Amino acid sequence: MPSNTLTVTDNRTNHTYTLPIEDGTVRSMDFRQIKTGAEDFGLMTYDPAFVNTASCRSSITFIDGERGILEYRGYPIEALAEHCNFLEVAYLLLFGELPNEAQLKDWRTEITHHTMLHETTRKFLDGFHYNAHPMSMLVSTVAALSTVYPEARKVHDPANRLLQVKRLIAKMPTLAAMANRYNVGLPYVYPDNDLSYAENFMNMLWKMVEPKYAANPVLARALDILFILHADHEQNCSTNAMRSVGSSDADPYLSVAAAAAALSGPLHGGANEQVLKMLDEIGSKDNVPAYIRRIKEGHGKLMGFGHRVYKNFDPRAKIIKWTAEKVFEVTGRNPRLDIALELERIALEDEYFISRKLYPNVDFYSGIIYQAMGFKPEFFTVLFAIPRTVGWLAQWQEMHADADLKIARPRQIYTGERKREFIPMEARKAAGAMKA
Ligand code: SDX
Repeated sequence: MPSNTLTVTDNRTNHTYTLPIEDGTVRSMDFRQIKTGAEDFGLMTYDPAFVNTASCRSSITFIDGERGILEYRGYPIEALAEHCNFLEVAYLLLFGELPNEAQLKDWRTEITHHTMLHETTRKFLDGFHYNAHPMSMLVSTVAALSTVYPEARKVHDPANRLLQVKRLIAKMPTLAAMANRYNVGLPYVYPDNDLSYAENFMNMLWKMVEPKYAANPVLARALDILFILHADHEQNCSTNAMRSVGSSDADPYLSVAAAAAALSGPLHGGANEQVLKMLDEIGSKDNVPAYIRRIKEGHGKLMGFGHRVYKNFDPRAKIIKWTAEKVFEVTGRNPRLDIALELERIALEDEYFISRKLYPNVDFYSGIIYQAMGFKPEFFTVLFAIPRTVGWLAQWQEMHADADLKIARPRQIYTGERKREFIPMEARKAAGAMKA
């Protein structure tokens, strides 16, 4: 019997099946042959939230949740955060190799020259209420870009895909900065091609009447590192959305809008905003024990804690803590940090969190830095979406090159009624209250 196989016996029929094991998985379709008779559809696997299901093969990002390891194309995140800039890492995620000097220069020139937006997009923003949530504005405006670039629908043309990839990476900071300026009622600032990716983003956010924006180098570097840390994370919720929507051959603007919508949820990228609201609610270190008690009694979750994959520590959280200290040297220490550190200290000693393997994740400390840099909590997830656009696009490109690519269409376990007798209107009972 070949070793890399699984032998199962269906006790309903006493039939035995041998299924191949490949890359630590069994193909779900191999269970369909297991039937009780000719009429039987065959066995499926049931895995709500895909907790134990590989949806694709990917060579982009490797995570080892038990050991707290994160690698982009095989390079440890610690080395990339220390030695690279964000566009360099974007190139690595998209093309699989670190760029040489000439490649990086060309790549940066390409991205820099796609940062402008069609003026109709600016007018699109004017339709929002002044205090519209910037994440909702970003999802809407990136989707609207599909009207500016209708040729993006040609998703089977590699050159066309790459052009849209460059446009999206370049324009996300511009869209984000415009949403921020709209919220505060300031005129838009156009891109400055002399500046780096992070510096130009700061320019579009914070330039006032000075002739040329000069970014604080410490804050620009901190943003660069934060962008690197948030760039990709294998098959997370929003990447799953990108792949699922993209699998229907939807254009990349609409697919990124769907992915950003998934990221906005408080259980995913929206957690960084919720962490700050949680720290504000706690108010002081003295209130931490009472707050933890409430969580343990089942009243809500400790935002910024826990992870589907990391069961020891999130390597990104460690780098973010280091970056925070650098930012505070410029901005002054954010008092919320003391509450966060006390929350982490107590939680990591508490059996409730230890037994559930709950540790600070990428969102626990990032918001404290962003707030110290002057961002409001509503903007934090936008700061996550900008760099994650690179990851979504790298995964989308890989998907389109995958021979296994088919439109995503899961099955279900049907639990409803069957073949009910139709009831004419006059025979229907008085309607009770509409049940949700
Ligand atoms: C991101 O997937 C990724 O890679 C995501 C991400 C990326 O880069 O793309 O890393 C970014 O989304 C980070 C996560 C940000 N979200 C939060 O910080 C929100 C708070 N965290 C939780 O909602 C939760 O931990 C999740 C969503 C992150 C993970 O949820 P799982 O894997 O579905 O775990 P679970 O809900 O099954 O929890 C297991 C147990 C449960 O308790 P019991 O029912 O067993 O008693 O742990 C408890 C949960 O109630 N639990 C928490 C908790 N997280 C889980 N209890 C208190 N506080 C928490 N934060």
